[in-house]
Amino acid sequence: MPNQTINKPELLSVEQAKNLDVLAVTDLFCEHMNPGQLHFLKLLGFNKVKVESAEGMYYTDQNGRKILDFFGGFGSVACGHNHPRLLAMRKRFQDEKRHEIAIAFMSQYAAALSKNLAAIAPEDLDMVFLGTSGSEAVEAALKLAERFQGPERAKIAYAEHSFHGKTRGALSVTDSEFYQSSFRLLNNRVRIPFGDSTALEEALRNDSSIGVLILETVQGGAGIVGAPTGYWQDVRRLCDQYNVVWIADEVQCGVGRTGLFFAFEHAGVAPDIVTLAKSLGGGKAAMGAMIARRSVYMAAYGAPQTALIHGPATFGGMGEASCTSIETLNILYDENLIENSARQGAYLLERLQKVQAKYPNIIKEVRGYGLMIGLEFCDFSNTLPFGLRTVVSVLDNKLKGSLCGFVGCLLLKEYDILVAFTEYNRNVIRLEPPLVVTREQVDTFVDALDDLLSRGVTRIVTAFAKEVVGNK
Ligand SMILES: Cc1ncc(COP(=O)(O)O)c(C=O)c1O
Repeated sequence: MPNQTINKPELLSVEQAKNLDVLAVTDLFCEHMNPGQLHFLKLLGFNKVKVESAEGMYYTDQNGRKILDFFGGFGSVACGHNHPRLLAMRKRFQDEKRHEIAIAFMSQYAAALSKNLAAIAPEDLDMVFLGTSGSEAVEAALKLAERFQGPERAKIAYAEHSFHGKTRGALSVTDSEFYQSSFRLLNNRVRIPFGDSTALEEALRNDSSIGVLILETVQGGAGIVGAPTGYWQDVRRLCDQYNVVWIADEVQCGVGRTGLFFAFEHAGVAPDIVTLAKSLGGGKAAMGAMIARRSVYMAAYGAPQTALIHGPATFGGMGEASCTSIETLNILYDENLIENSARQGAYLLERLQKVQAKYPNIIKEVRGYGLMIGLEFCDFSNTLPFGLRTVVSVLDNKLKGSLCGFVGCLLLKEYDILVAFTEYNRNVIRLEPPLVVTREQVDTFVDALDDLLSRGVTRIVTAFAKEVVGNK
């Protein structure tokens, strides 16, 4: 039908999208995206916010309210929102009509980004694969390790309470019955405790088909959990001894978040493969990377016959995204953001420890590595007054024993501060602010938390319940 007229459907324009009000966004979200998720957004009062712009440490909503961001997209906004250097670089890229897709020709941008990552990574972690998400970087790492080891030694050891993403391979090594649901997953895998070198050694000694070990260096989804001193040195030694490829997943804890570029650097050892994403894109671009030791990479994909098994996906190493990552890496060092992460992280932790000492019946523990901090609340499942327990469980079963939801909701509503929750541990608030955070902003956050907790549990829960009933 060569002469058929194609009618344009009723499409919204970008201008119309920008001008949708919060109720219209809610309708579209429910009709076309994720209706079930609205329940949780409502519980926390997040459904009332439409972000109009973001700059540095702040979001600005539809009413001109500035919200201090201690969530940071789970560690995706190292340089702060809309860093001026990233905006200028991206504008220049567009004005010069630079090319994007890097499939037909080699890309100078992807090549330069790969060189930069190799320069930052220790030892011979020199070979880089670029993708568009953390999950894709993890998939690439698992496939590389499997090809290196061959089918006989392709079994993957992964940790309890791990989170590596939701694509099928990454999901197979993500320790969550909830996320794994009833999907059919890889079956060549074995779960081990995190941070326990005796258990690791036992697993490797008893099963020679284990050829791959994947671990987050700091577990994010578990509630900001690090390994005991000496563990990573043991991991390196055991992987060498049993010829196992160690994959460090630093999608969340990498790119300076813990006060060094890679979290494993604190232990003075290096893995065989490392994955990065989140902040690598400067909060502006979808960028994921896998960096591998040259020896591992070359054995798996080094020959012309094997090179294309792993060649990049369509959007791997796109022009503007690669340039955004190049600029992000330069900003991190030019503005000393990694040092700032260590300095402000230590200050935030110290102040939170004082708050914990003041409210030992509310906060169970604070722990952290640079600007990756977990604030664990006491579990109130059995200690909350019976009347309040009933109120809370009517609102949502997930909130039954945890103050996190209440505190997060009230910090946003009353103090204009955004914090993050945690996949597996409902008692932990995660703090991963942009690495540009100042001492004054740390003070603002901690003072607000202190003020809120000084009301005591009963008044906090009551205020929350009123707020949620108002949202229904
Ligand atoms: C440690 C870790 N690995 C992998 C992923 C998956 O990354 P993405 O959501 O970009 O696919 C995440 C995401 O939170 C993560 O925290």
